[in-house]
Amino acid sequence: MGSIAVETRSLVDIASRISSNTALLNKHLASKVLQTPTFDKDAEEDFHSLTDAPKIEAAREALLEDTNRLHDLVLGPANVLRRICWGSMNTSVLRAIYHFKIHEAIPLSGGSTYSEIATKVGLPEHRVKSIIRQAALDHVFAEDSPNHVVHTAASAILIRNKAMLDWVGHFTEEALPTSANLVDAMERYPGSEEPGESAFALAFNTQSIFKFFDENNDRQARFFGAMAGVGKSPGLSVQHILKGYGWVQLGKALVVDVGGSSGFVSTALANAYPDLEFEVQDLQHTIEKGAQDLAPELRSRVKFMAHDFFKPQPTTGDIYLMRHICHDWSSKYSAKILRAIVPAMKPSSRILMIESVMQAPGTLSQLQERTMSQERSREDWEDLVFQTDPKLEIKSIHRPAGSWDSMIEVGFKS
Ligand SMILES: C[S@@+](CC[C@H](N)C(=O)[O-])C[C@H]1O[C@@H](n2cnc3c(N)ncnc32)[C@H](O)[C@@H]1O
Repeated sequence: MGSIAVETRSLVDIASRISSNTALLNKHLASKVLQTPTFDKDAEEDFHSLTDAPKIEAAREALLEDTNRLHDLVLGPANVLRRICWGSMNTSVLRAIYHFKIHEAIPLSGGSTYSEIATKVGLPEHRVKSIIRQAALDHVFAEDSPNHVVHTAASAILIRNKAMLDWVGHFTEEALPTSANLVDAMERYPGSEEPGESAFALAFNTQSIFKFFDENNDRQARFFGAMAGVGKSPGLSVQHILKGYGWVQLGKALVVDVGGSSGFVSTALANAYPDLEFEVQDLQHTIEKGAQDLAPELRSRVKFMAHDFFKPQPTTGDIYLMRHICHDWSSKYSAKILRAIVPAMKPSSRILMIESVMQAPGTLSQLQERTMSQERSREDWEDLVFQTDPKLEIKSIHRPAGSWDSMIEVGFKS
């Protein structure tokens, strides 16, 4: 059933499907001698990857959707609205934990009392207690005895995983104020395609998100860390890019990684495909970091170049790789970025965009749909390519199994 379709099953029917899918999942974990999910601080950070077991993955997705439905049915409609509104409070609580480094004040083994934590972070004990107790309702921290706090699996990630900590920082300190400005931006600039009139621009009084990061190096470093963390989630893994395109068939070829950030996609491809050469293009600050960290054995095949992607493309390449570029820009600016590449293309060159392609509601899992509601559909991508240059066409769209992104291949019309 589509995830936004009206629910017609009884509570017992939903619970019964939950029960059978739980049994299926449990049997799979047991057969692979995998750890049963737990909130313990030493648990695996992510649910075990089920890419090689699509039926079990489907059971897991159905479980997530059904438990959510059952929860909301039992909650009742008025409380569903309250739950949604309370969501922003929970994000603010997480922001307080991040900002005051509450996670760092609690040792991974042993834990701490509220009074010890309050002294370490310099806040009143009652404030610390209310923040932690609110977070604990979401399994971030727990009390193992009255007034004594220990880490859980989720809170331990804030200590052990810097990329995830950066993601939490970016989300709570940049995405949260941005979302609070969404309606203001819609009121003041309805239908605007200008980055300077976006909710982000209003929240941070800037001309664009990338200008803002370029001028705020600490926040930029955190954003890069956060993006690297995002790349580690199974649906966005670089492995899908390595396996999802005919890289070998290209033979000796030059890949231009437009807006390639630190070059992590290009370096993964360079390691896997020794015939390929790469030019990673991004803003000056960004490529400096990537060039510094590049492994010496890749230096002859992976080059870095400062290039503003709104300016004419200086390099003739076989592939112009654009991962997660157009999804940050309105169609007007996405077309400008693409148009700047066209004069440099050979007849055989391809632009390879790696982006989400929005599906009809209910086609994807709810988890995936939640992250994609603002993305482009297949028709939107076709319009964008046509708007860029009528000589171009989409040659193919392929979504590798388990990938949240598709490989959108664009070339000159044949
Ligand atoms: C969402 S990130 C995607 C990075 C990378 N391709 C990936 O897959 O994670 C967008 C990238 O575009 C770069 N960028 C933004 N404005 C740019 C511009 N005018 N010229 C070149 N790169 C730009 C940013 O620095 C950032 O690295």
